[in-house]
Amino acid sequence: MSKYSLSINGHSRGVDVAPDTPLLWVLRDTLELAGTKFGCGAGHCGACTVHLNGVPTRACMTPVSTVGRKQVTTIEGLDSKGEHPLQRAWKELDVPQCGYCQAGQIMTAAALLKENPRPSDEEIDGAMAGNLCRCGTYLRIRKGIHRAAELAAADKKGRK
Ligand code: FES
Ligand code: FES
Repeated sequence: MSKYSLSINGHSRGVDVAPDTPLLWVLRDTLELAGTKFGCGAGHCGACTVHLNGVPTRACMTPVSTVGRKQVTTIEGLDSKGEHPLQRAWKELDVPQCGYCQAGQIMTAAALLKENPRPSDEEIDGAMAGNLCRCGTYLRIRKGIHRAAELAAADKKGRK
């Protein structure tokens, strides 16, 4: 066991775990942040996607010892009120089916919109290709990302 001080959703959290413990288990089991899901455990499905310094990252493949002072953002910390444009669009368009993959989908999409506020269908498909959905909600995810882009643009305009 080793002690690590992690920055999770803007808060410093101390954990005492083995160095090779995947960040996913630290989040879910130690810190009880269960929004990040376990799918394949092998880097193939994207259900466990979180941000490390804003970069979408597979938490199942990230040993806690490699996180250091990087800012970890999970679905719980994407927006303090759960009202990120993607979360609003997801509700408006009823994007999820079973919901299992959706936190990972939203985290990948959030990183995309930060880089590219108005992505094309092709750009969305490229960015989202590593996030699998067994329920086949891909078309609604794509629509949801376009809608979130509109909502974010409207928010920005409102703030001017
Ligand atoms: S659970 Fe991490 S990629 Fe599938
Ligand atoms: S909504 Fe069921 S796996 Fe994606």
